Amino acid sequence: MIVVTAPTGSIGKQLLSILFSSGEQIRVIARDPSKLKDVPSQVEVIEGSHGDSAVVNKAFTGADAVFWLVPPPSVADSMEAAYVGFSRPAAEAIKTQGVERVVVISALGRGTQAAAHAGLVTASLAMDDLLASTGVHLRALTMPSFMDNLLQQAGVIKAQGMFFSPLSADRKFPTVATRDIAAVAAKYLLATSWTGQDEVPVLGPEDLTFAEMASTLSEVLGKQVGFKQIPMDALKQRLAGFGMSPAVVEGYAEMMAAKNDGTDNAVVRTPESTTPTTFRQWAEQVLKPAILG
Ligand SMILES: NC(=O)c1ccc[n+]([C@@H]2O[C@H](COP(=O)([O-])OP(=O)(O)OC[C@H]3O[C@@H](n4cnc5c(N)ncnc54)[C@H](OP(=O)(O)O)[C@@H]3O)[C@@H](O)[C@H]2O)c1
Repeated sequence: MIVVTAPTGSIGKQLLSILFSSGEQIRVIARDPSKLKDVPSQVEVIEGSHGDSAVVNKAFTGADAVFWLVPPPSVADSMEAAYVGFSRPAAEAIKTQGVERVVVISALGRGTQAAAHAGLVTASLAMDDLLASTGVHLRALTMPSFMDNLLQQAGVIKAQGMFFSPLSADRKFPTVATRDIAAVAAKYLLATSWTGQDEVPVLGPEDLTFAEMASTLSEVLGKQVGFKQIPMDALKQRLAGFGMSPAVVEGYAEMMAAKNDGTDNAVVRTPESTTPTTFRQWAEQVLKPAILG
């Protein structure tokens, strides 16, 4: 039996639809089960937050494998609390309930100098260490920035023909579609042959600059789209405006600075770490319909 956390999220939803078709027994943890759409009746739903000890102990009972995804932080006292603190009850329950395998969504950066002060990245790597300390068989899927992050700027792309980031305009970054992350997670969750603990980079098919992405978007959307690098303070103001707590705002800024210093560029792409969806395909199939409404 496979337990899926964050089943209403971007990766979680797509993961579930792959797992349903496998015939494997599935249990999900959802804060609000009414948000679960098109879920077959044989899927067991545990109501609550996967940061809660009672909830994860109940959910992990009899589980062979767990898909672990910490919600992106919005209000927290520290990045450590948001990732490691949130995962602590699950780490205990993994041991108590004898879970065999865990697949966790994490971030690229291990081994780089910048990763020590990289906000969400530093905390994600510490979360991986916590999960590894349980002795469970573990695959940490290590991610660059998601293509799907650009959906948050669909409105401004439509209205102004621009998108913005504090990331460098001319550095090539890997980027991955959440559909491909879901497919890699499903592959590991459904296989029973792997053991031990390892990182699995999930890198998309190519590295691109933001200028190259803007040019692709112009072609796909049939109108001029430009990219502008914004100062870190502008990002911080924007995030604070969304109601994020100061520690979270700082965590995002630190992460962006670390990406500009190369945390996403340290792993060399191999056939195993390459995923299929190109930025152009993603823009045509996901962003364009979102923009056209
Ligand atoms: N975006 C990137 O570029 C990037 C890069 C590397 C790693 N990551 C990692 O990827 C993860 C985000 O994945 P995603 O984009 O699929 O997430 P997402 O679409 O934002 O979904 C978040 C999920 O978390 C649930 N959730 C939110 N707050 C919660 C809480 N307090 N307790 C329990 N559940 C809660 C949501 O459920 P409700 O429906 O109940 O709200 C939803 O299922 C994060 O761990 C992030 O660090 C992201």
